[in-house]
Amino acid sequence: MKLSSFMHFAKFGIKTILFNKKDVILGTIIVTDKCNLSCKHCSVNNINCVIYPYEQIKKEMEKLYNMGVRILFFCGGETLLYKDKDKTIRDLVIEAKNMGFLIVNLVTNGTLPINVPEADLILLSLDGNRGKHNEIRGDTYDTILENIKNATSDNICFYMAINQINKDCIEDVCLLAKNTKNVRAVSFNFHTPYPNTKHLYLNKEEKAVCCEKIAKMMKEKVPVFNLKSAFKYIINNTFDTPCNQCVVIENGKVSTCGRCIDIPNLCEKCGYFFVAEYTLIFKGNIKVIFDMLKTYLKYI
Ligand SMILES: C[S@@+](CC[C@H](N)C(=O)[O-])C[C@H]1O[C@@H](n2cnc3c(N)ncnc32)[C@H](O)[C@@H]1O
Ligand code: SF4
Ligand code: SF4
Repeated sequence: MKLSSFMHFAKFGIKTILFNKKDVILGTIIVTDKCNLSCKHCSVNNINCVIYPYEQIKKEMEKLYNMGVRILFFCGGETLLYKDKDKTIRDLVIEAKNMGFLIVNLVTNGTLPINVPEADLILLSLDGNRGKHNEIRGDTYDTILENIKNATSDNICFYMAINQINKDCIEDVCLLAKNTKNVRAVSFNFHTPYPNTKHLYLNKEEKAVCCEKIAKMMKEKVPVFNLKSAFKYIINNTFDTPCNQCVVIENGKVSTCGRCIDIPNLCEKCGYFFVAEYTLIFKGNIKVIFDMLKTYLKYI
Protein backbone atom coordinates (compact mmCIF):
# COMPACT_ATOMS: atom_id res chain seq x y z
CA MET A 1 0.00 0.00 0.00
CA LYS A 2 1.24 3.48 -0.84
CA LEU A 3 2.13 5.74 2.10
CA SER A 4 -0.36 8.37 0.87
CA SER A 5 -3.16 5.77 0.91
CA PHE A 6 -2.16 4.61 4.36
CA MET A 7 -2.23 8.22 5.62
CA HIS A 8 -5.71 8.73 4.15
CA PHE A 9 -7.05 5.63 5.91
CA ALA A 10 -5.31 6.53 9.18
CA LYS A 11 -6.85 10.03 9.14
CA PHE A 12 -10.29 8.61 8.32
CA GLY A 13 -9.99 6.04 11.12
CA ILE A 14 -8.93 8.55 13.75
CA LYS A 15 -11.73 10.99 12.81
CA THR A 16 -14.34 8.23 12.80
CA ILE A 17 -13.30 6.86 16.18
CA LEU A 18 -12.78 10.18 17.97
CA PHE A 19 -15.94 11.87 16.73
CA ASN A 20 -18.07 8.73 16.38
CA LYS A 21 -18.67 9.62 12.73
CA LYS A 22 -20.65 7.56 10.24
CA ASP A 23 -18.87 8.51 7.01
CA VAL A 24 -18.27 5.74 4.50
CA ILE A 25 -14.93 4.36 3.29
CA LEU A 26 -15.76 1.00 1.67
CA GLY A 27 -18.16 0.68 -1.25
CA THR A 28 -19.36 -2.18 -3.43
CA ILE A 29 -20.84 -1.82 -6.88
CA ILE A 30 -22.94 -4.67 -8.26
CA VAL A 31 -22.04 -4.71 -11.94
CA THR A 32 -24.49 -7.47 -12.88
CA ASP A 33 -26.69 -10.05 -11.20
CA LYS A 34 -26.20 -12.41 -14.13
CA CYS A 35 -24.27 -15.55 -13.28
CA ASN A 36 -23.09 -18.68 -15.05
CA LEU A 37 -23.47 -20.72 -11.82
CA SER A 38 -26.21 -21.30 -9.33
CA CYS A 39 -24.47 -22.15 -6.10
CA LYS A 40 -26.39 -23.85 -3.31
CA HIS A 41 -25.69 -21.12 -0.75
CA CYS A 42 -26.38 -18.06 -2.92
CA SER A 43 -29.51 -15.90 -3.08
CA VAL A 44 -28.37 -13.06 -5.35
CA ASN A 45 -27.80 -14.63 -8.76
CA ASN A 46 -29.94 -14.24 -11.89
CA ILE A 47 -32.81 -12.34 -10.27
CA ASN A 48 -33.21 -9.88 -13.17
CA CYS A 49 -30.28 -11.16 -15.29
CA VAL A 50 -29.09 -7.64 -16.10
CA ILE A 51 -25.61 -6.38 -16.94
CA TYR A 52 -25.66 -2.70 -15.99
CA PRO A 53 -24.41 -0.20 -18.62
CA TYR A 54 -20.83 1.03 -18.34
CA GLU A 55 -21.85 4.69 -18.18
CA GLN A 56 -24.28 3.92 -15.33
CA ILE A 57 -21.56 2.16 -13.35
CA LYS A 58 -19.17 5.03 -14.00
CA LYS A 59 -21.77 7.42 -12.51
CA GLU A 60 -22.17 5.10 -9.52
CA MET A 61 -18.39 5.13 -9.04
CA GLU A 62 -18.42 8.95 -9.08
CA LYS A 63 -21.28 8.95 -6.56
CA LEU A 64 -19.40 6.64 -4.18
CA TYR A 65 -16.17 8.60 -4.61
CA ASN A 66 -17.99 11.84 -3.74
CA MET A 67 -19.47 10.15 -0.65
CA GLY A 68 -15.90 9.43 0.52
CA VAL A 69 -15.47 5.80 -0.54
CA ARG A 70 -11.84 4.94 -1.27
CA ILE A 71 -11.93 1.12 -1.04
CA LEU A 72 -14.02 -0.14 -3.94
CA PHE A 73 -15.26 -3.67 -4.63
CA PHE A 74 -16.88 -4.86 -7.82
CA CYS A 75 -19.28 -7.74 -7.20
CA GLY A 76 -22.17 -9.61 -8.83
CA GLY A 77 -23.55 -11.98 -10.06
CA GLU A 78 -20.41 -12.97 -11.85
CA THR A 79 -18.10 -10.00 -12.38
CA LEU A 80 -16.02 -11.62 -15.14
CA LEU A 81 -19.17 -11.93 -17.26
CA TYR A 82 -19.28 -8.14 -17.35
CA LYS A 83 -19.44 -6.78 -20.87
CA ASP A 84 -20.89 -3.59 -22.33
CA LYS A 85 -19.91 -3.20 -25.99
CA ASP A 86 -16.09 -3.40 -25.84
CA LYS A 87 -15.88 -2.68 -22.08
CA THR A 88 -15.04 -5.38 -19.56
CA ILE A 89 -14.54 -5.61 -15.80
CA ARG A 90 -10.88 -4.77 -16.38
CA ASP A 91 -11.91 -1.41 -17.91
CA LEU A 92 -14.03 -0.73 -14.84
CA VAL A 93 -11.09 -1.46 -12.54
CA ILE A 94 -8.80 0.84 -14.55
CA GLU A 95 -11.49 3.56 -14.59
CA ALA A 96 -11.82 3.28 -10.79
CA LYS A 97 -8.07 3.53 -10.29
CA ASN A 98 -7.91 6.61 -12.53
CA MET A 99 -10.80 8.16 -10.61
CA GLY A 100 -8.74 8.01 -7.43
CA PHE A 101 -9.99 4.98 -5.51
CA LEU A 102 -7.05 3.80 -3.39
CA ILE A 103 -7.90 0.10 -3.28
CA VAL A 104 -9.91 -1.59 -6.02
CA ASN A 105 -10.91 -5.25 -5.65
CA LEU A 106 -13.27 -7.59 -7.40
CA VAL A 107 -15.02 -10.80 -6.41
CA THR A 108 -15.29 -13.64 -8.91
CA ASN A 109 -16.15 -17.32 -9.17
CA GLY A 110 -12.98 -17.84 -11.22
CA THR A 111 -14.61 -19.92 -13.94
CA LEU A 112 -13.57 -17.55 -16.74
CA PRO A 113 -10.04 -16.49 -17.75
CA ILE A 114 -8.51 -14.13 -15.17
CA ASN A 115 -6.87 -11.04 -16.61
CA VAL A 116 -7.23 -8.08 -14.25
CA PRO A 117 -3.67 -7.22 -13.16
CA GLU A 118 -4.69 -3.68 -12.15
CA ALA A 119 -6.93 -4.93 -9.29
CA ASP A 120 -5.37 -4.83 -5.84
CA LEU A 121 -7.05 -8.11 -4.98
CA ILE A 122 -9.11 -10.58 -6.95
CA LEU A 123 -11.22 -12.37 -4.35
CA LEU A 124 -11.83 -15.75 -5.92
CA SER A 125 -14.46 -17.97 -4.37
CA LEU A 126 -13.22 -21.44 -3.55
CA ASP A 127 -15.57 -23.36 -1.31
CA GLY A 128 -13.63 -26.44 -0.28
CA ASN A 129 -11.76 -29.38 -1.70
CA ARG A 130 -12.78 -30.61 -5.17
CA GLY A 131 -15.69 -32.70 -3.85
CA LYS A 132 -17.30 -30.16 -1.54
CA HIS A 133 -16.60 -27.18 -3.79
CA ASN A 134 -18.26 -28.96 -6.72
CA GLU A 135 -21.17 -30.03 -4.52
CA ILE A 136 -21.84 -26.35 -3.79
CA ARG A 137 -20.76 -24.73 -7.06
CA GLY A 138 -21.22 -27.39 -9.75
CA ASP A 139 -18.34 -29.05 -11.59
CA THR A 140 -16.02 -26.03 -11.66
CA TYR A 141 -13.03 -26.83 -9.41
CA ASP A 142 -10.61 -28.01 -12.09
CA THR A 143 -11.48 -25.15 -14.46
CA ILE A 144 -10.88 -22.65 -11.67
CA LEU A 145 -7.47 -24.10 -10.79
CA GLU A 146 -6.50 -24.01 -14.47
CA ASN A 147 -7.62 -20.36 -14.71
CA ILE A 148 -5.56 -19.49 -11.64
CA LYS A 149 -2.51 -21.14 -13.14
CA ASN A 150 -2.97 -19.07 -16.33
CA ALA A 151 -3.88 -15.80 -14.59
CA THR A 152 -1.92 -12.76 -15.73
CA SER A 153 -1.13 -11.59 -12.19
CA ASP A 154 -0.54 -12.87 -8.67
CA ASN A 155 -3.20 -10.76 -6.94
CA ILE A 156 -5.63 -13.61 -6.20
CA CYS A 157 -7.03 -14.23 -2.73
CA PHE A 158 -9.26 -17.26 -2.12
CA TYR A 159 -12.65 -16.39 -0.67
CA MET A 160 -14.46 -19.17 1.18
CA ALA A 161 -17.98 -18.99 2.61
CA ILE A 162 -18.02 -21.65 5.34
CA ASN A 163 -21.29 -23.54 5.69
CA GLN A 164 -22.73 -26.94 6.69
CA ILE A 165 -21.45 -28.57 3.51
CA ASN A 166 -17.82 -27.43 3.54
CA LYS A 167 -17.04 -26.72 7.21
CA ASP A 168 -14.46 -29.54 7.25
CA CYS A 169 -12.49 -28.14 4.29
CA ILE A 170 -10.83 -25.16 5.94
CA GLU A 171 -7.38 -26.77 6.04
CA ASP A 172 -7.67 -27.88 2.38
CA VAL A 173 -8.35 -24.35 1.18
CA CYS A 174 -5.65 -22.90 3.45
CA LEU A 175 -2.97 -25.28 2.21
CA LEU A 176 -3.98 -24.73 -1.40
CA ALA A 177 -3.70 -20.96 -0.88
CA LYS A 178 -0.24 -21.40 0.59
CA ASN A 179 1.00 -23.63 -2.23
CA THR A 180 -0.65 -22.24 -5.37
CA LYS A 181 1.07 -19.88 -7.77
CA ASN A 182 -0.69 -16.51 -8.19
CA VAL A 183 -2.60 -16.92 -4.89
CA ARG A 184 -1.59 -14.49 -2.18
CA ALA A 185 -3.90 -15.43 0.68
CA VAL A 186 -7.26 -16.81 1.76
CA SER A 187 -10.14 -14.92 3.35
CA PHE A 188 -13.15 -16.47 5.11
CA ASN A 189 -16.78 -15.68 5.80
CA PHE A 190 -19.44 -17.69 7.56
CA HIS A 191 -22.66 -18.46 5.78
CA THR A 192 -25.24 -15.71 6.24
CA PRO A 193 -28.66 -17.38 6.43
CA TYR A 194 -30.78 -15.65 3.79
CA PRO A 195 -34.39 -16.94 4.01
CA ASN A 196 -33.90 -19.72 1.41
CA THR A 197 -30.54 -21.00 2.73
CA LYS A 198 -31.11 -21.16 6.49
CA HIS A 199 -30.21 -24.88 6.56
CA LEU A 200 -26.55 -24.07 5.75
CA TYR A 201 -26.04 -21.84 8.81
CA LEU A 202 -23.48 -22.82 11.48
CA ASN A 203 -24.24 -22.50 15.17
CA LYS A 204 -21.85 -20.86 17.66
CA GLU A 205 -20.11 -24.10 18.61
CA GLU A 206 -19.51 -24.97 14.96
CA LYS A 207 -18.21 -21.48 14.23
CA ALA A 208 -15.84 -21.74 17.20
CA VAL A 209 -14.39 -24.99 15.86
CA CYS A 210 -13.87 -23.37 12.44
CA CYS A 211 -12.14 -20.33 13.95
CA GLU A 212 -9.85 -22.62 15.94
CA LYS A 213 -8.87 -24.31 12.69
CA ILE A 214 -8.24 -20.97 10.98
CA ALA A 215 -6.15 -19.77 13.93
CA LYS A 216 -4.12 -22.98 13.81
CA MET A 217 -3.49 -22.45 10.10
CA MET A 218 -2.38 -18.87 10.80
CA LYS A 219 0.10 -20.22 13.35
CA GLU A 220 1.43 -22.54 10.67
CA LYS A 221 2.14 -19.53 8.45
CA VAL A 222 -0.78 -19.92 6.08
CA PRO A 223 -1.53 -16.45 4.64
CA VAL A 224 -4.98 -15.70 6.06
CA PHE A 225 -6.46 -12.32 5.23
CA ASN A 226 -8.68 -12.07 8.33
CA LEU A 227 -8.25 -10.64 11.80
CA LYS A 228 -7.87 -13.24 14.53
CA SER A 229 -8.68 -10.65 17.18
CA ALA A 230 -12.20 -10.38 15.71
CA PHE A 231 -12.96 -14.12 15.87
CA LYS A 232 -14.65 -14.13 19.27
CA TYR A 233 -17.08 -11.41 18.13
CA ILE A 234 -17.72 -13.26 14.86
CA ILE A 235 -18.43 -16.56 16.64
CA ASN A 236 -20.92 -14.96 19.03
CA ASN A 237 -22.28 -12.32 16.63
CA THR A 238 -21.50 -9.66 19.21
CA PHE A 239 -20.30 -7.03 16.77
CA ASP A 240 -22.42 -3.99 15.94
CA THR A 241 -24.45 -4.19 12.76
CA PRO A 242 -24.86 -2.79 10.19
CA CYS A 243 -21.46 -1.40 9.25
CA ASN A 244 -21.98 2.34 8.77
CA GLN A 245 -18.66 2.73 6.97
CA CYS A 246 -19.73 0.34 4.19
CA VAL A 247 -22.16 0.90 1.38
CA VAL A 248 -23.48 -1.08 -1.59
CA ILE A 249 -24.96 0.27 -4.80
CA GLU A 250 -26.96 -1.72 -7.31
CA ASN A 251 -28.79 -0.12 -10.22
CA GLY A 252 -28.78 3.27 -8.47
CA LYS A 253 -30.07 1.97 -5.12
CA VAL A 254 -27.69 2.69 -2.25
CA SER A 255 -27.82 0.47 0.85
CA THR A 256 -25.81 0.83 4.02
CA CYS A 257 -23.60 -2.21 4.69
CA GLY A 258 -25.10 -4.87 2.37
CA ARG A 259 -27.89 -5.56 -0.09
CA CYS A 260 -29.28 -7.75 2.69
CA ILE A 261 -29.96 -4.80 5.03
CA ASP A 262 -33.74 -5.04 4.50
CA ILE A 263 -34.05 -8.75 5.31
CA PRO A 264 -35.66 -8.95 8.78
CA ASN A 265 -33.42 -10.28 11.61
CA LEU A 266 -30.57 -11.24 9.25
CA CYS A 267 -27.95 -8.83 10.64
CA GLU A 268 -27.97 -10.57 14.03
CA LYS A 269 -26.79 -13.72 12.23
CA CYS A 270 -24.41 -11.96 9.81
CA GLY A 271 -21.48 -14.13 8.74
CA TYR A 272 -19.46 -11.54 6.83
CA PHE A 273 -16.11 -11.15 8.57
CA PHE A 274 -15.51 -7.69 7.07
CA VAL A 275 -18.59 -6.33 8.87
CA ALA A 276 -17.25 -7.49 12.23
CA GLU A 277 -13.71 -6.33 11.42
CA TYR A 278 -14.73 -2.86 10.23
CA THR A 279 -17.25 -2.16 12.98
CA LEU A 280 -14.73 -3.20 15.64
CA ILE A 281 -11.99 -1.06 14.09
CA PHE A 282 -14.20 2.01 13.87
CA LYS A 283 -15.41 1.56 17.43
CA GLY A 284 -11.75 1.92 18.39
CA ASN A 285 -10.97 -1.67 19.43
CA ILE A 286 -7.19 -1.36 19.83
CA LYS A 287 -6.40 -5.07 19.44
CA VAL A 288 -8.33 -5.28 16.17
CA ILE A 289 -6.77 -2.04 14.89
CA PHE A 290 -3.22 -3.38 15.41
CA ASP A 291 -4.21 -6.70 13.88
CA MET A 292 -5.64 -4.84 10.87
CA LEU A 293 -2.47 -2.80 10.37
CA LYS A 294 -0.33 -5.93 10.45
CA THR A 295 -2.60 -7.90 8.11
CA TYR A 296 -3.51 -5.25 5.53
CA LEU A 297 0.08 -4.08 5.09
CA LYS A 298 1.07 -7.69 4.39
CA TYR A 299 -1.46 -8.46 1.65
CA ILE A 300 -2.32 -5.17 -0.08
C1 LIG B 1 -22.47 -13.29 -4.40
S1 LIG B 1 -20.87 -13.78 -4.89
C2 LIG B 1 -20.58 -12.74 -6.31
C3 LIG B 1 -19.21 -12.90 -6.94
C4 LIG B 1 -18.95 -14.20 -7.63
N1 LIG B 1 -20.02 -14.67 -8.40
C5 LIG B 1 -18.47 -15.26 -6.67
O1 LIG B 1 -19.11 -16.28 -6.51
O2 LIG B 1 -17.43 -15.01 -6.06
C6 LIG B 1 -19.80 -13.00 -3.67
C7 LIG B 1 -19.40 -13.88 -2.51
O3 LIG B 1 -20.51 -14.04 -1.66
C8 LIG B 1 -20.48 -15.37 -1.16
N2 LIG B 1 -21.82 -15.71 -0.68
C9 LIG B 1 -22.91 -15.99 -1.39
N3 LIG B 1 -23.95 -16.27 -0.58
C10 LIG B 1 -23.49 -16.17 0.68
C11 LIG B 1 -24.06 -16.34 1.95
N4 LIG B 1 -25.33 -16.67 2.10
N5 LIG B 1 -23.28 -16.14 3.03
C12 LIG B 1 -21.98 -15.81 2.90
N6 LIG B 1 -21.38 -15.62 1.74
C13 LIG B 1 -22.12 -15.81 0.62
C14 LIG B 1 -20.01 -16.18 -2.32
O4 LIG B 1 -19.53 -17.44 -1.92
C15 LIG B 1 -18.94 -15.28 -2.89
O5 LIG B 1 -17.71 -15.55 -2.28
S1 SF4 C 1 -21.02 -17.79 -8.63
FE1 SF4 C 1 -21.31 -16.15 -7.13
S2 SF4 C 1 -23.14 -15.04 -7.80
FE2 SF4 C 1 -23.04 -16.93 -8.95
S3 SF4 C 1 -24.38 -18.30 -7.84
FE3 SF4 C 1 -22.30 -18.64 -7.09
S4 SF4 C 1 -22.03 -17.25 -5.33
FE4 SF4 C 1 -23.86 -16.61 -6.45
S1 SF4 D 1 -24.72 -6.73 8.83
FE1 SF4 D 1 -26.70 -7.07 7.87
S2 SF4 D 1 -26.68 -5.76 6.06
FE2 SF4 D 1 -24.56 -5.97 6.73
S3 SF4 D 1 -23.77 -7.69 5.51
FE3 SF4 D 1 -24.47 -8.51 7.48
S4 SF4 D 1 -26.56 -9.18 7.12
FE4 SF4 D 1 -26.02 -7.82 5.44
